[in-house]
Amino acid sequence: MGHLLPLSRVARLVGQSRHVLQEMIRHDTLATFDGMIELDELLRAFPDVKWDDDAEFRRVAEIRDRAFAKRVRERALPDKDVLVARLNEMGDDYAAAKALLKHYGNVMVWLDEKIDEMDEGASMETHHALHSVRAFLLRNLNELPRDAVQAQAVIAQDRILKIMAPTVTILPSGHEFIVEGNDTLLEAALRNGVSLNYGCSNGNCGDCKARVVSGDVKKVHAHDYVLKQAEKDAGTILLCAYAPVSDVVIESSVAGARDIPVQQLTARVKSVEVFNPHMAALHILAPRSQRLRFLGGQGIQVRVNGSGGRYAIASCPCEDRHIEVQIPRRAGDAFAEAVFSELKANDTVEVEGPYGEFVLDEDSPRPIIFLAFGAGFAPIKSLIQHAISLDLTESMDLHWLADDTGLYQDNLCRAWADALDNFNYLPHPPADDLDALLQSIVGDYPDMHRFDVYAVGTATQLERACEYFVREGLHGARWFSSEMTA
Ligand code: FES
Repeated sequence: MGHLLPLSRVARLVGQSRHVLQEMIRHDTLATFDGMIELDELLRAFPDVKWDDDAEFRRVAEIRDRAFAKRVRERALPDKDVLVARLNEMGDDYAAAKALLKHYGNVMVWLDEKIDEMDEGASMETHHALHSVRAFLLRNLNELPRDAVQAQAVIAQDRILKIMAPTVTILPSGHEFIVEGNDTLLEAALRNGVSLNYGCSNGNCGDCKARVVSGDVKKVHAHDYVLKQAEKDAGTILLCAYAPVSDVVIESSVAGARDIPVQQLTARVKSVEVFNPHMAALHILAPRSQRLRFLGGQGIQVRVNGSGGRYAIASCPCEDRHIEVQIPRRAGDAFAEAVFSELKANDTVEVEGPYGEFVLDEDSPRPIIFLAFGAGFAPIKSLIQHAISLDLTESMDLHWLADDTGLYQDNLCRAWADALDNFNYLPHPPADDLDALLQSIVGDYPDMHRFDVYAVGTATQLERACEYFVREGLHGARWFSSEMTA
């Protein structure tokens, strides 16, 4: 078996999403071996890719980051001890390859001498045969075939990526992500939307314990939590304190909505973004020492000076400490009034949550239809960003049915559609006849049985929409909905 590469790194090398590669695997146009791609197979499947840089991948990644309104990820170097460890590992590989080459060289010298020995006193026929063998060997040793030159370029690029961004595979879920810059294993998992178990995120609670199945890791932060000797012997580490030195396989459970405990924290207002007179977003920053664990689509209780309410989270769990909730301005809602007219950066906010089980089914590779009624866009936005960061879905269609709050983040949805090949944005202006609108939406999906639908609206809107989708062929179990919380 030749040089094997993990799927995440192949995606990066060829500038495609993991989902596109998974589709190729499903349709047998790309073969895998234990979930990895063999180098010759990679060269066969992508003969036209330029292997000398990853500019295309960077371009796509930057567009995606801009589309998420996130900071463009800085190209930070790994922690210096981790970098040294990764370079050491590469040095060991290089030394082993060099020793093997030297051994092959010795075998060639021995073969050459053997040919001389056999040639002595040999018949003319044998002499010609030996001459041909020697000429064949010399010719092939002196010039590299074209595909070997290509393979060399891929291996060189693979080595650089392995140093700058090793791959992590999580068992038993099979999630795979890369670790960039000086992220710990936990930070990288969260950035990629993978909700591994954790608590304090700074080495005190032990909730992020996980077992290293293969590969090397290095401690990058001291931790107060003490691992027992038996745990250390079994390869247990704290994900918040370690970074990978090589590609690693980690055994750790991925949390579902019911696994995440309700947390209370005091956070700060980062900003208030007023979209229009009816709708604003409250951007909150959790303290460094206590991030909020949640899944895309869940909600939180927010309180300021005695008033507050429960709102769906509109941000992605992959956005580090940033939490966004969207607040519709309703008559008599003191908290909404405070958000629109009083709250300012650095004010204190009490946050409690997460609540709710309206989250992505991460095991489903099915295409998704998102249906947002008016302000129901907030949890749908969170789900979409979570789905994009996980890169698992075949395609996503967002239907946003406007109400008096308007399509207040229309530009963001258009940016997603521009940046992502598998994302379609279908805005709908306020409609007098909801039945006609729903009928026209479902009419565009003759293969409705293939889809998952995630919908947020009022109880009446959801009930009617569900009827139309199921009548059109949607499997009842693939309808996921949440009633608007505010
Ligand atoms: S999250 Fe608490 S020790 Fe890692």
